[in-house]
Amino acid sequence: MAILVTGGAGYIGSHTSIELIQSGYDVIILDNFYNSKPEALNRIKKISGGDFKFYECDIRDKAGLDKVFAENDIEAVIHFAGLKAVGESCRKPLEYYENNIGGTVTLCEAMRDAGCKKIVFSSSATVYGSNNPSPLREDMPAGGTTNPYGTTKLYIETVLSDLYASDNEWSVVILRYFNPIGAHKSGLIGEDPNGIPNNLMPYITQVAIGKLDHLNVFGDDYPTHDGTGVRDYIHVVDLAQGHLCAVKKACAGSGLNIYNLGTGNGYSVLDVVKAFEKASGQQVKYVIGPRRDGDIATCYSDPSKAKAELGWEAMYGIEEMCADSWNWQKNNPQGL
Ligand code: NAD
Ligand code: WQD
Repeated sequence: MAILVTGGAGYIGSHTSIELIQSGYDVIILDNFYNSKPEALNRIKKISGGDFKFYECDIRDKAGLDKVFAENDIEAVIHFAGLKAVGESCRKPLEYYENNIGGTVTLCEAMRDAGCKKIVFSSSATVYGSNNPSPLREDMPAGGTTNPYGTTKLYIETVLSDLYASDNEWSVVILRYFNPIGAHKSGLIGEDPNGIPNNLMPYITQVAIGKLDHLNVFGDDYPTHDGTGVRDYIHVVDLAQGHLCAVKKACAGSGLNIYNLGTGNGYSVLDVVKAFEKASGQQVKYVIGPRRDGDIATCYSDPSKAKAELGWEAMYGIEEMCADSWNWQKNNPQGL
């Protein structure tokens, strides 16, 4: 029995595929390379020392998906494939709704038709919106998303819960990630954004390597310990391990379960800059600027449900997250 990993050539999918292969799973990766490169597949092989099947396929292509299910005995799907840039989603909402929601519906149709009813889905802390106080718990009301990307995650959670309500044979595990950073210890894979990064850590590493002049800190007047935004950064390898626990849960029986994947710790932008400087030995020039639209002051998880029910908790601290992000950037100045 195999695990199908959609979006497996991407940042989180590639790290998760390595952990799956190294744990003895039979892995099938599917990706359309919209936001990743074929070289990621070579790196997965090199690091894991194992092999896997690959399909260049779009999750909106029902016939393509049917072929993947017909040719393999797939027990469960870990569904990463999707578009994820918040700013871009405001400019291209239809593309986001079509790719993320439409693609997930098509994937679920193909799964249903093939009799595969176990899915682990990549959701996001963004579904908590801005009305809930941190630490964020899974039983808090989701909603109030501030951009189309976040709304796609909210709607997909609804699609999956309606699917489970319609047929209790489904096993759905929804994972709400906080802020994934870091990279594999090998320095061979990591986050490889196109163009100027939107997210904090890739921006910092590109300043450190000299590709960008300075970091713009988006506001220092938030009600936090130093005025800059506080987030729950989580090492991508911890996140990958969380998927192993989630897929075991999905395969153990039917149900609908939602888990936060975070550390439970909040770090400000300036905390991250300092931790990065210490871990890398590089100075990071920064300029304090205005707040970014849609940002909130503080967002961190209560990760206790994942610990209690999945037996998972994050192992890496901010120092390792920064050291591993730098190791990846330093070894791959131009990305993959
Ligand atoms: P990524 O862009 O690196 O990986 C996504 C992969 O999906 C890419 O390889 C891309 O080519 C592929 N893809 C996109 N649309 C596709 C389609 N229609 N058919 C087939 N493949 C397609 O992103 P990531 O950071 O690895 O994120 C993975 C998932 O986790 C996404 O769903 C994202 O929304 C979610 N997520 C990410 C973060 C984060 O900060 N990185 C946080 C919360 C949730
Ligand atoms: C972190 C902090 C910024 C860049 C986003 C998505 C979320 C999830 C993770 C997918 C904030 C500050 C950033 C910069 C800065 N993705 N910052 N200068 O906004 O918490 O979450 O990625 O699901 O949905 O919204 O992450 O890395 O963009 O920002 O000062 O150049 O760094 O204001 O406080 P965010 P981020």
